Amino acid sequence: HPLKHHLTLTLLALTSLSHFPPASPLTPCRTLCGTTAINYPFSIDDGCGAPQYRSMLNCTGTDLFFMTTSGRYKVQSIDYKKQTMVVYDPAMSTCSILQPHHDFVMTDVESVVIPPSSDTVFALLNCSIDSPVLNRYKNLCFNFSGHSCDELYGGCNAFRVFRSFTNSSPPCCFTGYDTVKYMSMNILDCSHYTSFINVDGLNGIGPADWVYGMKLSYAVPDTGCGRCTRSGGACGYDTETGVMMCLCSTSMNATRECGKKLILD
Ligand SMILES: *[C@@H]1O[C@H](CO)[C@@H](O)[C@H](O)[C@H]1NC(C)=O
Ligand SMILES: *[C@@H]1O[C@H](CO)[C@@H](O)[C@H](O)[C@H]1NC(C)=O
Ligand SMILES: *[C@@H]1O[C@H](CO)[C@@H](O)[C@H](O)[C@H]1NC(C)=O
Ligand SMILES: *[C@@H]1O[C@H](CO)[C@@H](O)[C@H](O)[C@H]1NC(C)=O
Repeated sequence: HPLKHHLTLTLLALTSLSHFPPASPLTPCRTLCGTTAINYPFSIDDGCGAPQYRSMLNCTGTDLFFMTTSGRYKVQSIDYKKQTMVVYDPAMSTCSILQPHHDFVMTDVESVVIPPSSDTVFALLNCSIDSPVLNRYKNLCFNFSGHSCDELYGGCNAFRVFRSFTNSSPPCCFTGYDTVKYMSMNILDCSHYTSFINVDGLNGIGPADWVYGMKLSYAVPDTGCGRCTRSGGACGYDTETGVMMCLCSTSMNATRECGKKLILD
């Protein structure tokens, strides 16, 4: 019966309306940069996300960048479950390319809220014999997974040049982020550094096959963002006071969650 059919369709439509969450109202916060999802606590629009992460990311339309004091690093991936972000500094030397000397410097806020994780190792290369990491601070250097950092001079096209002057390997040091955080490359007296990630899995694997870059580790501030998100809003903050807000639509903000009326609009 055509009328019955029509009724069934209407009922179906009504049921799906009440059973599925409504499409999010248009908040001012973009949730995608290229193919990378942008979720709390990050944002690419001012006033969105958590205030501690303000101005940390820059989206060029297709590519996402992590902004630091020492440069603009490409975001390779964000793992929202593990709360990690892998970044790559295009100006850093790696096993296959030697680039001019430079430092790795994060902003003060970044070094607290999103520092490199412990499975990111820094290799300080071509150090002078007076380097603090060969003397007073030599306990900051370590071997990992059976690797000696001499391997980098032998196993990497980019780093072979460090041997060519003296016919021997200049000192080097594997160390963690804290060392480069507190000492610049000038203080360390090493001409170059490189960094690589997932160091627990590098047993028996040569430096040509390591993954170069940094894995940063962050924590999500506990500000009741879930409640706002469930109500269809996006978590943000007042750009003047930094106080958390729930952004419900381009024309309405709430303190904690978006009102039901707004969701049905
Ligand atoms: C809502 O908050 C955002 C972020 O602070 C701000 O840019 C926007 O102007 C606010 N909108 C309204 C309608 O108050
Ligand atoms: C992103 O970077 C570009 C180029 O460096 C700059 O012009 C722009 O202001 C930045 N945008 C934000 C939101 O920081
Ligand atoms: C290695 O370090 C020395 C200083 O200790 C520097 O003169 C030399 O240029 C460095 N080598 C390269 C290839 O940068
Ligand atoms: C690291 O390895 C090198 C070469 O294999 C060795 O000479 C050195 O004693 C080791 N250092 C530590 C702290 O185990």
